[in-house]
Amino acid sequence: MSTTQIEKRESNLDAGERGTKTVYVHTFGCQMNKADSENMLGLLDEIGYKQTEDVKGADLMILNTCAIREGAEDKVYSYLGAWNKFKQKRPGTLIAVGGCVAQDEGEKLVARAPYVDIVFGTHNLFRLPELVNRAQETNQHVVEVFQELPEDLPELPVIRQNDFSAWVSVIYGCDYNCTYCIVPYVRGRERSRTPDEVLKEIKELADAGYKEVTLLGQNVTAYGHDLKPVRHLGHLIEMVGELDSIKRIRFLTGHPRDLNPEIIDSVKRTPSACEYFHIPVQAGDDRTLRRMARGYTIDFYRKKIDEIRSRIPDAAITSDLIVGFPGETEDEFLNTVRLVEEMCFDACNTAAYSPRPHTPSKSWGEQVPEDVKFERLRLLNTVVSEVSHRRNKRYLGQTVELLVEGLSQRNDERLMGRTRSNKVVHFEGPVELTGKLVNVKIEAANPWALRGTLAN
Ligand code: SAH
Ligand code: SF4
Ligand code: F3S
Repeated sequence: MSTTQIEKRESNLDAGERGTKTVYVHTFGCQMNKADSENMLGLLDEIGYKQTEDVKGADLMILNTCAIREGAEDKVYSYLGAWNKFKQKRPGTLIAVGGCVAQDEGEKLVARAPYVDIVFGTHNLFRLPELVNRAQETNQHVVEVFQELPEDLPELPVIRQNDFSAWVSVIYGCDYNCTYCIVPYVRGRERSRTPDEVLKEIKELADAGYKEVTLLGQNVTAYGHDLKPVRHLGHLIEMVGELDSIKRIRFLTGHPRDLNPEIIDSVKRTPSACEYFHIPVQAGDDRTLRRMARGYTIDFYRKKIDEIRSRIPDAAITSDLIVGFPGETEDEFLNTVRLVEEMCFDACNTAAYSPRPHTPSKSWGEQVPEDVKFERLRLLNTVVSEVSHRRNKRYLGQTVELLVEGLSQRNDERLMGRTRSNKVVHFEGPVELTGKLVNVKIEAANPWALRGTLAN
């Protein structure tokens, strides 16, 4: 397998002119899935497939799927139905499904969507070129799902979708068994990449002009416990911190139990490590947390947040929250609302509990009725946005550094960038600033974003 390469996307037209084939990838789910899609593009490039943005004209369509909630899974089948129509108009087009739904369903996916040509799981990404070639040659369904990652993790080629900010997976899988969560089933046990491997990849990124890296894992704060010698995420952050041209280091997603003070100290010591912590609490109630098998109490979580804020007072802290977990009473739900107010989270991803296959809580009695879940979600979202608004107003009048990501999707006369604390900021400026660090003075704040003007 060739070493990691950084390549720019080539245009559709170029690909057509050279008579090569084209691949369209659509990604659902978390950043790990986005990173995997970039590896799929790298792998397919090696057998002559160039990326296209035109789904209807693609020779190969790949859906990289997410199984976290039922709604995410339903979207997979509605996308596939639409893709089948494109395929009918262009016989010979291949449809491949990868990611977490594919890992879970394997053959069942082909039974439900017989026009799918290839199903591959989360542990055998590196086999994609072989599977595509086989599907082409045999004209038969190819379904291959491994139960775990191979012993030696292959180094995968990559075609990144962004040339200044990069995802870097550092640990795969999750060793927790939260009673609602399908991730351990579809992503397997934790496996850390070695610091040497990670550093080699990030040095290449630095040489190629990348300014930001996000170290990824379903449970990134557990990084290194399985290595010999044992390492922790803080070691990695400090090593990456030595690379002058990497201006921002982020990490996602943290688990409160593994966020040890050494990691927080490394963030504090490393100038390029962003003062931003995504540390999902999931619920604000001890009985619920116990039944979720999260492995901590609210008091423990509170102390973690104190550990962060006492060392890095301005740190932004965000969380994920679930409402309507089986058996959650009204009062237990209100404890979650109270916690959001007490913790003053900068932002929260909220979701109504969704029963998932292979999880214990799916078959528990006391499932909360849908209308109650959605009423709780609505109330929680109101409080989350009030609290975020309050947090965002602190920035009014301040001048902050942004990494400019490009045109704003909401208003394409403006640019969009992020602060070190991961706040989205809109401002007016030339599009050539994309990928650059600029200073912006904040003039307005709403719950989800800030607005400002260029200060340099
Ligand atoms: N490892 C991270 C979370 C990864 S999954 C952690 O432990 O915090 C991303 C988010 O999806 C979770 O934080 C949770 O809020 C949500 N989620 C997972 N399973 C869910 C389910 N069955 N129903 C609703 N939301 C769920
Ligand atoms: Fe899922 Fe829990 Fe693992 Fe997070 S820690 S991925 S919620 S099992
Ligand atoms: Fe979804 Fe799989 Fe990520 S279930 S959240 S894509 S690990």
